[in-house]
Order: sequence, then C-alpha cells, then structure tokens
Amino acid sequence: MGAPMAGVSGAKLAFETCRAGGLGFIAAGHLNSKEAFKQLEHEIEIFKELAAKAKANGDEGGQYPLCIGFISHSTFKEELGWNFVQHLLEDYEPDVVQFFAPAVSYPPPGVKAKIIVSNTVKLCQSYGCKVVAQVGSVKEAIEALDCGVDCIVAQGSEAGGHGIRRDLGNGTLSLTSTLVKIAEQKKRKIPVLAAGGIVDGRGLVAALALGADGVVLGTRLWASNEAAGPKAYKMALVETRSCDDVVRTQVFDMISNSYNTTKWPAPYDSSGVLRNLVTDAWDTKLNELESEILYPSNGSNIAAKFRKAAEGQRIDTACVYSGQGVGEIMSIEPAYGIIQKIQREAAESMTRLQRVCLPRDD
Ligand SMILES: Cc1cc2nc3c(=O)[nH]c(=O)nc-3n(C[C@H](O)[C@H](O)[C@H](O)COP(=O)(O)O)c2cc1C
Repeated sequence: MGAPMAGVSGAKLAFETCRAGGLGFIAAGHLNSKEAFKQLEHEIEIFKELAAKAKANGDEGGQYPLCIGFISHSTFKEELGWNFVQHLLEDYEPDVVQFFAPAVSYPPPGVKAKIIVSNTVKLCQSYGCKVVAQVGSVKEAIEALDCGVDCIVAQGSEAGGHGIRRDLGNGTLSLTSTLVKIAEQKKRKIPVLAAGGIVDGRGLVAALALGADGVVLGTRLWASNEAAGPKAYKMALVETRSCDDVVRTQVFDMISNSYNTTKWPAPYDSSGVLRNLVTDAWDTKLNELESEILYPSNGSNIAAKFRKAAEGQRIDTACVYSGQGVGEIMSIEPAYGIIQKIQREAAESMTRLQRVCLPRDD
C-alpha cells in the first residue's frame, strides 16, 4: 500500500502505485475548507482520467481502486468535514478509505468517540467501501476493530510523518506481531499491514514473516518521481545516510500548533522527521521551547523563523518528514519501478531465507 501523505501523494503517485499492483492512496489532508475539498476532487478526477486512459490503451487486467486517506481529527472536527466525506462517498464511490488515528476524532458533545467511529465505518461500508484504520497502539487497534474496520495498519514509531508520541508508541515489528495475533482472533479475516521504516524487499519479508498481509510505504514512495512536495526535501531523503539522522519529535508540532488553526492533538502531535538544527536544539527541551513560543526572548520568534525556513525549503531548519528506513534510499525513482524492485528483492530474500532455515540432513 502506498501511504496517504498530505501534500505528497496525489493522483499521479496513487495511480502509479496501483499500476504496480499496490493500493495507491490519495491523501485528503486536513479536509476542513472548501479549497481543500476542491483540491481533493481535482486529484480524484485526474486519478480517474489516468485509470480510464490506461484501460482505453488496453490495460484490461489493471486494477485502479480509488483509495482516499482521511486524517480523523481534522476531518471530523466540524460538520463541514462530515459533509465532504458524504459527498465523496456519493459522487466518487471510493473503493477504500483510510482513517488515520480514528480514536482522536472529535465527537459532538455528549456522544462517545467510539460511536462516531462505528457510525462512520458503517456509513462508508454502506457505500461498498472498505475501511482501513491506521493506529499506533494496541488499545486503539482493538477499539478500531470493535468499530468494524476491514483492515488495520500497524504504524510503528519508525514511521515518517505524524504518529503517536514516542513514549506511547511501539516499534513496527512488535506492534505488527501483536496486532496480527489480535486480528486472527476475530471471526472474519482482518488483514494487518505494517507501516514504519519499510523501504525494501527485506522489510516486506520481515513483515510477512510476522504474519502481516502487506506493508505500507511512505518515505520510500515520497522519494519517487511522481510524489509531490519540494524537490529539496526529496533530495534530503536521498542524501540521508542512516536512521541515526531521523527522530520522532514533538518539536515541529509545538511550533506549528502555535499559529495553525488546525492543531495536531495529543497523542498524535509528534512526527518522524530528519534531524536538523531545530530538533537538535529543542527536542530535549520541550518545556523551554513552549515558554520560548509563548514568551519569546528578545529577538527570538521561533514560529516566524520556522515558517520562513519552510518557505525557503531550508532543510537545516524546516520540517522534513521521514521514516527510519531513509538511510537505505539511494535515489529518487519512478514509483512503479520502486514497487517492482521491492517485489523482486522480497522474492530473493525468501529464497535466501529458505536456504538459511532448512534443517541440515545430518
Ligand atoms: C511526507 C509524509 C506525509 C504523511 N502524511 C500522512 C497523511 O496525510 N495521512 C496519513 O494517514 N499518514 C500520513 N503519513 C504517515 C504514513 O501514512 C505512514 O504511516 C508512514 O509513512 C509509514 O512509515 P514510512 O514513512 O517509514 O514508510 C505521512 C508520512 C510521510 C512520510
């Protein structure tokens, strides 16, 4: 599965992921304005056109499921977001939707979040749409399963982009392994996908060996030709040499929450990012960062500096999302080729493992 990545996974990346045999997601991002909704509709139209063109050119066996990834806390905060989701279900009939961190949805006063999530899942399923929940903890996975979702994404703390705070999070291997066991105990088969730090065939095989049904690729597909987003950031991914240079941190959320109207709520106010001057300066001093944001000392305006760095795409200061597998990414390539290569590597890896694991004759 190609991860929904706000500002990165649009129609082109989603289409190429599907063409290679995966589930390619278009990210809805924070769906809380008419402009954001229009932009999403635009991407969906392009995706549909690309799929229709491929079929017209004789690609009869190709499957191009429309997959849309919603961020629960912002989409379901206001009625507007609910209306948008309803419109999308009616007008575009998506095949699969993902809700990121559904437990952090905002229910209207007096209504339990769980009821809202169950109703949303049922609503989507009534349109024939499969529902995926991406979660960072076992507790949230159990809640999502109780709400009737069709698939769980186990997002480990190695993941790029937003995720559960590092003190509450779990490694991809242990979270996936646990969720596979929990999903197996359900009456119907619930697929589990592993997300976080997977960039090649060896990572895919590791997840499959744990019993996962597949993996989610975020950072690996961000470093692809079809991904949107600043070229300088993509280059920074390729130039990063190891997982030592990635950190899960609340620093950027604290800064951006200080001026954005859509704030990332706890415990998902943390992101996997490339380390830089800002994370090095503040990651171990969050209390000081908070007071510096609230009561800037002379001449310091951290939020303004950060926004300027983002505008100038300055990787030493701006927030560049990245998972811990980034050190293994050597070049920006076409998404189709990346996925094919991962499949080939996985097959090779399994052949090697068979040799390693076969019992000796003596
Ligand atoms: C640039 C970027 C943007 C992301 N945006 C979203 C998003 O909009 N919605 C979402 O559900 N997950 C988002 N994620 C998280 C991914 O869904 C996924 O969990 C993560 O990329 C997996 O880890 P990996 O990057 O190591 O492959 C994003 C990740 C990245 C790298």
